Amino acid sequence: MASVYAHRAFMGSATSRPMSTPCMVARLSKVGSTSSRSSLQQRSWRRGASSSSGKKNSSSRSRKPLPYRAESSTQPPSSSSQATAAPSGSIFPKTPSSATPEPVSQLFRTRWLGLFGAGAAALCLGTFTASFWIANRGEAPSYVTGCEPVVPTGRPAIESPVDFDRHLDKSEWRFGITKLRRRLAAEATGHVLEVAMGTGRNMEFYDWDAVTAEYVAAGERNRSKLAKRGWGTKGNIADLLEMETFTGVDISPAMLDIGLRRLRQVVPHGALEDALPKQPSFDQLAAQSPGASGGVQLLRGKVRVLQGDAQSPLPAPPTGVDKYDTVIQTFGLCSVRDPTRLIHNMAAVVKPETGRIILLEHGRSWWELINGLLDRSAKGHFERFGCWWNRDIEHIVEVAQSQIPGLEVVEFQRPGWTTLGTHVWVELRVRNVKPAGSQATGGNESSSGWLGSLGSSWLSVSPPKNGEKKE
Ligand SMILES: C[S@@+](CC[C@H](N)C(=O)[O-])C[C@H]1O[C@@H](n2cnc3c(N)ncnc32)[C@H](O)[C@@H]1O
Repeated sequence: MASVYAHRAFMGSATSRPMSTPCMVARLSKVGSTSSRSSLQQRSWRRGASSSSGKKNSSSRSRKPLPYRAESSTQPPSSSSQATAAPSGSIFPKTPSSATPEPVSQLFRTRWLGLFGAGAAALCLGTFTASFWIANRGEAPSYVTGCEPVVPTGRPAIESPVDFDRHLDKSEWRFGITKLRRRLAAEATGHVLEVAMGTGRNMEFYDWDAVTAEYVAAGERNRSKLAKRGWGTKGNIADLLEMETFTGVDISPAMLDIGLRRLRQVVPHGALEDALPKQPSFDQLAAQSPGASGGVQLLRGKVRVLQGDAQSPLPAPPTGVDKYDTVIQTFGLCSVRDPTRLIHNMAAVVKPETGRIILLEHGRSWWELINGLLDRSAKGHFERFGCWWNRDIEHIVEVAQSQIPGLEVVEFQRPGWTTLGTHVWVELRVRNVKPAGSQATGGNESSSGWLGSLGSSWLSVSPPKNGEKKE
């Protein structure tokens, strides 16, 4: 902007100046021999002329520039002075011979904004190009999913989960992840399972109205629902699908401590304020919640937070329901040792045909340049955040699809340009096909305690080999 402004000012002054004279040319040719210097002089001269010629200059605007030779017809220039002045002679404005060239210091003073902007832009571009070049030098380490040098711990190794959570606040908003979380949570209806829920960063976007219905008068609930989903509901609240129950699973109790704290804050009507302390400890609460099989049970089982390895068969929905309507997972495939196994487990607990598995993940981009950066920084990122951000999510999904009978990719997109194609939104569903000899489990472990079933059912579905694709 500043440079555009400076350019316009420059052009404006140039067009409004009178023509050059041979004496000016001669004087300028004395001032400097290099072209850059002479061009600086030309500009400073014009500025000087502008301030000294005043009104007279405005009348010269319509005048056509005269050729150099016409001016010099009475006194032809010497061959040396012509060589210096001829290229610029035709655009030199006329000015009184007493006008002095503007000094360079004055030039900097009057054009500092444009010069500063151009310098800053050049510096940014240079730094960006250099860092890209440095980051992409040499051979990038290549890892096979699940065989990375450090096996995922399932928990960020950053100072603490609190820091992990805090760190994400600004960056997620900046890169549009918060918006994607909101969009994803709006899809969560019926019995909902969130896998690898972490610190509960999706919690505030779920619709808790049905879960907390007993705390709200029916009329008020309808009003709030209509306000939220104003589009064409025509007041028929009964038809709206709502989140009926919520089950969250994660392997890390420290992450779940924060998840529970967030739950207390976001579930409306203070519905969890009595049940949860301000600084909840997952381990302590789970110990007092014997019915929740490895977790915390709230609002008479409508909200459950469970601890366990999601690579083992996942817990069934609360009593009386067979499978989940929605299975959500955000940034989980990058965090577990065996992401394909995770998709197997999610597919096993979602309602066939109508149920939805919705994933928001990050991994390899469209662009190899970006992938080079991801590869080089992957180990450091893992050490800090506990996940491998250079995994090929598209390939993981393809492998899972080739292995799980009926698994269908409903949607696969890379939303937003701010993440440079590294983030993916995936929706999956399971069609009703019964594969011969399939022993896919999931959905019924809660009766005997979810954690109790770990290990025994671990190999009930033959685990896929990473990178392996069925033909
Ligand atoms: C990158 S964080 C994402 C957390 C959360 N889903 C979010 O969007 O902020 C990955 C989470 O996966 C959890 N996790 C890793 N391995 C797991 C496993 N095998 N079973 C269940 N959770 C796991 C971690 O504890 C961590 O909370």
